[in-house]
Amino acid sequence: MLILVTGGAGYIGSHTCVALLEAGYSVVVADNLANSNKTVLVEVEKITGKKVQFYLIDVTDEANLDRLFKTHQFDGVMHFAGLKAVGESVEKPLLYYHNNILSTITLAKKCLEYGVKHFVFSSSATVYGENPSPLLETMELLPRTSPYGETKAISEQILKDLGRVNEHFAVALLRYFNPVGAHQSALIGEKPDGVPNNLMPFITQVARGKLKKLRVFGNDYPTIDGTGVRDYIHVCDLAEGHVAALEKLKPGVCIYNLGTGRGTSVLELIETFERVNGLKLPYEITARRPGDIAECYADVSKAKRELCWQARRTVADMCLDAWRFEENN
Ligand code: NAD
Ligand code: UFG
Repeated sequence: MLILVTGGAGYIGSHTCVALLEAGYSVVVADNLANSNKTVLVEVEKITGKKVQFYLIDVTDEANLDRLFKTHQFDGVMHFAGLKAVGESVEKPLLYYHNNILSTITLAKKCLEYGVKHFVFSSSATVYGENPSPLLETMELLPRTSPYGETKAISEQILKDLGRVNEHFAVALLRYFNPVGAHQSALIGEKPDGVPNNLMPFITQVARGKLKKLRVFGNDYPTIDGTGVRDYIHVCDLAEGHVAALEKLKPGVCIYNLGTGRGTSVLELIETFERVNGLKLPYEITARRPGDIAECYADVSKAKRELCWQARRTVADMCLDAWRFEENN
């Protein structure tokens, strides 16, 4: 089985390439390297001992994508390619709408033209907006006011509409919670450009001394200790969730939360990171970050029931692996 992985040189895509190769699939990666480096795929090959075919392609470019579909008969696609910085999407909405929506449309169009029936899409818990946790797949979507979040909700809708009228098209919309950590080899992981926006890469860079101090955005939320609560999921569990979803795909559209079902506060994450890695993290409490919500964690019973998949790795594993990757890179 040959799978096209768009955005496969990125953080989640590269870990999923490992999971796919280890499960016996062959993989072709299409990535424009807007937020990644091709050398990541050399590491994927090192980890798995298998080849990855790479194409430098922008997925919004129909002519190039068409050539790729002519060259390979894919059995399925996993669509990770996208821009993901929430703040940047507020500053540059057109860039986000263009890239994230056009890539989904162009890829889906090629799948239908070439008879590729299996489509797995990277969505986000952000589509739940302010719904109360635990978040359930059946909840009405309340996209947050970020263009990034809108691109995920709109892409989901496009794929739902296509699933409705193409009886053989099988789509999984995977709503990720907060992916963190790295492959235990420490060869691949998250490498944000510049100052990170997200908590875990910020923590590892403070621990490394690249950044002076962590800012905890608010301690007056109605949560266990007043700091924001999220459902952190180890990126390797997330990657395995994709393989499970691919294997269970059936005609129509299925939506799955990929999280652990457990919430962890910012202070709990800091405490775990310090404890398992034997480090001290300098931090200060600052004002809330605009747009943040108090808590966001998944109800994962549907994925467990239907995909026979559940996250196995602990928050301690996430902290150990994230730090090992930082130290090695
Ligand atoms: P990433 O930036 O590491 O990977 C995305 C990859 O897509 C990059 O390699 C980038 O170069 C590529 N890309 C972007 N636009 C492209 C285009 N038009 N054509 C070809 N390649 C393109 O991000 P990630 O964390 O691995 O996220 C993967 C997907 O999961 C994204 O769609 C993201 O929105 C989604 N997601 C991520 C998170 C998260 O917290 N990391 C959470 C929810 C959803
Ligand atoms: N936080 C800090 N200090 C920091 C960074 C974050 O205290 O320097 C806090 C945030 O306030 C929040 C928690 O840590 O309470 C997690 O923040 P992240 O930025 O790591 O993650 P978010 O949950 O805000 O956002 C992530 C992805 C989005 C996606 C969303 C889905 O970055 O792309 O999950 O719910 F939309």
